Amino acid sequence: MARRALSLSGTFPALRVLLLLLTLLLPCLRQATAGRHNYFDALHKSILFFEGQRSGKLPPDQRVRWRRDSALHDGSSAGVDLTGGYYDAGDNVKFGFPMAFTTTLLSWSVIDFGRKMGPELRNAVKAVRWATDYLLKATAVEGVVYVQVGDPYSDHNCWERPEDMDTLRTVYRIDRDHPGSDVAGETAAALAAASIVFRSRDPAYSRLLLQRAISVFEFADRYRGAYSSSLRRAACPFYCDVNGYQDELLWGAAWLHKASRRREYREYIMRNEISLHAGDTINEFGWDNKHAGINVLISKEVLMGRAGYFRSFKNNADAFICSVLPGISRTQVQYSPGGLIFKAGGSNMQHVTSLSFLLLAYSNYLSRARKVVSCGGVTASPALLRHLAKRQVDYILGDNPLGMSYMVGYGARYPLRIHHRASSLPSVHAHPTHIGCKAGSKYFLSPNPNPNLLVGAVVGGPNVTDAFPDSRPFFQESEPTTYINAPLIGLLGYFSAQA
Ligand SMILES: *[C@@H]1O[C@H](CO)[C@@H](O)[C@H](O)[C@H]1NC(C)=O
Repeated sequence: MARRALSLSGTFPALRVLLLLLTLLLPCLRQATAGRHNYFDALHKSILFFEGQRSGKLPPDQRVRWRRDSALHDGSSAGVDLTGGYYDAGDNVKFGFPMAFTTTLLSWSVIDFGRKMGPELRNAVKAVRWATDYLLKATAVEGVVYVQVGDPYSDHNCWERPEDMDTLRTVYRIDRDHPGSDVAGETAAALAAASIVFRSRDPAYSRLLLQRAISVFEFADRYRGAYSSSLRRAACPFYCDVNGYQDELLWGAAWLHKASRRREYREYIMRNEISLHAGDTINEFGWDNKHAGINVLISKEVLMGRAGYFRSFKNNADAFICSVLPGISRTQVQYSPGGLIFKAGGSNMQHVTSLSFLLLAYSNYLSRARKVVSCGGVTASPALLRHLAKRQVDYILGDNPLGMSYMVGYGARYPLRIHHRASSLPSVHAHPTHIGCKAGSKYFLSPNPNPNLLVGAVVGGPNVTDAFPDSRPFFQESEPTTYINAPLIGLLGYFSAQA
């Protein structure tokens, strides 16, 4: 679709863009007559998903009852307490890099859209706290960050419930001699962002988070390096930081600037903008690459008229917006024929939710400043950006060629065979005796639906032709992750208040 559009370039660009936009937006209009989505129900479920991903000792108010306590000795091999936190996806490893990114995006969702979440706000805040309680444990020793628990090869070799785990719970850390500015920078961002969430709700906790963010960032910046080099076997090819650690340093500084308002972070950002490549890959945003997020986050201050010196970040953010409008720029974001944002590399839905989140956040910043983005001959108004973001959310919830929702438990049809150990194996209640490493394989290979509904889980989603196999072995399509849901919570919060 993008290729064909580009071949027309030069001829009536505005008309071409208008036609492509209509193609993307039409399903919304059709849907207006077909009945609206229940965004609040989807919000409720997407937050509940985080309870299903919990590791450690579960609290009395745990609502996902088929899960039980797990990994209660995490950290003991290193003489520290690293229980708690979230499993990243359908396996039982606690990967610190995506967990920190998830925490940052959960926090950003609450900061920008928490006011729209009604009674779900308190659950969203709990989801943040479950992560930050863990991140505080992982950063308790100065100059050290525990960045992962669980040997990924040992874990991936088994199909086991977290409650049964007997795989290697190896503890991985970065320190001054084994730096990891990427994971440490992201952890600082997460702690700083969460400190804003708790600023008025729990001031003492908020101060602790901010102090920790400051010291973790200092460590990240002073001892520079990629954790994928320091801890190659644990990080790669799982959450290998392919695009380098520079973006996480800027990202960490941007969140610290927002959380602390200290001049040193503003100066850090201005001093390092070029050397840390703020203008690179402007339309990427995910656990590996933070660029579009950095530019959108910092642009808010430019739009509020507080920080003209950050103008170049706004230029980058505007260029990102233009790249999402179909058919305008060379660094064009691609769409599937059914209208879903599509990026190659698997687990596509992570890009859909994170980029849509940025569209919505930026549209709010623009609209408060009464501004629009000019993309060649086309004007991107805040309303247009909201429409584009809504279209992506609606696709996830069922407005797509297969007419199915990609959120487990939402709508009439949704994925039944998600790639998720706890969901696909019988629960401890149903099957109290241990199910060993290889004894789980028959459940993995079974054509039957998963016995435990991981309500709210959003899977990697359809491939580039809008096709979806609903099959456990197709992990790129059928595996949920915490960083798909984290930005979705902000989107659903906003749209639930519009309905
Ligand atoms: C998309 O998935 C469908 C169904 O699983 C498959 O037949 C098709 O070949 C896939 N297309 C691509 C481009 O991967």
